[in-house]
Amino acid sequence: MSRTVLITGATGTVSTALMNALRGAEVDLRALVRDGSAADGPRERGAEVFAGDLGDARSLPPAFEGVRDLWLLTPNGPRAPENAMNAVWAARQAGVERVVRLSVVGAAHDAPNRSGRLHALSDREIERCGMRWTILRPHWFMQNLLNEAGDIAATGTFSLNMASARIGMIDVRDVAECAARVLLDDPDRHHGETYTLTGPRSLTFDEVAGELGLALGRPVTYLPVGDEAKRRTLLGHGVPEWIADMLEEYARAYASGWGDFTTDTLAGLLGRPPRDIAGFARDHAPAFIPARDG
Ligand SMILES: NC(=O)c1ccc[n+]([C@@H]2O[C@H](COP(=O)([O-])OP(=O)(O)OC[C@H]3O[C@@H](n4cnc5c(N)ncnc54)[C@H](OP(=O)(O)O)[C@@H]3O)[C@@H](O)[C@H]2O)c1
Repeated sequence: MSRTVLITGATGTVSTALMNALRGAEVDLRALVRDGSAADGPRERGAEVFAGDLGDARSLPPAFEGVRDLWLLTPNGPRAPENAMNAVWAARQAGVERVVRLSVVGAAHDAPNRSGRLHALSDREIERCGMRWTILRPHWFMQNLLNEAGDIAATGTFSLNMASARIGMIDVRDVAECAARVLLDDPDRHHGETYTLTGPRSLTFDEVAGELGLALGRPVTYLPVGDEAKRRTLLGHGVPEWIADMLEEYARAYASGWGDFTTDTLAGLLGRPPRDIAGFARDHAPAFIPARDG
């Protein structure tokens, strides 16, 4: 009998890639969404859609009924641990067997960023949840570069407050394939494991710009900017202040060398090397090209 997997964050970047990675697998996909009328993505990927809000515990039980595996993704924000707690409680009440949780690189009580410290709280809760559990801690997503696509298309430049940071960045499609691997393996196989996932090499943003330029066939330049300039830009685009603060904390940590590492965990899980930035750039090239050229 196929297992029912509940996907949280089902309209977002990672969970969409996860549903792609689970396509054709012998599982029944179920998606938790806040707004059922905005759930075409999960439906197109074969998921049965349930409305529920991780911030509202009373809305969750119907989606969890009959679920064997929970993919737990919480959005960034000060209420992330409460969101995770509500999901874990609903899962316990429903008799869910396994939780696979998306955490973040470097999650720890002494992480230099609030997101890492909040994720650490939820990681501790998962470790005591009484169900089988696995935690994934991916590094900085290559897909974050899509936030710079408009600038790159318009000006051939992008501005970050990352100075000369080196980051072992990872393609989200690889995060999703690792999550799918864990979810499709026997629940005992990865129980109690915390996997730190990275790409194949630690890159500066000058190197990233070089790879984007090669894929686009036009020069791309990285322009380092200060924290204040980046903050003004983010707030100007409507990014909430809490998120702008969090991103600044990450940028400072990365600029000081905090993210300059890779692991071979992904290769161990998938039996192949992680995707490289060159492949990301090739596959996403149309997003970085002005519409009239695309
Ligand atoms: N960016 C990185 O480099 C990076 C690296 C490692 C880990 N992470 C972690 O990745 C996670 C974010 O993943 P993502 O990029 O896939 O997120 P995303 O694209 O921003 O999507 C967030 C998802 O959460 C849903 N959501 C928001 N509030 C909700 C609520 N109250 N109840 C139920 N669902 C809710 C959203 O649904 P709606 O459609 O309703 O808005 C959406 O589906 C965070 O935990 C972050 O710390 C990020």
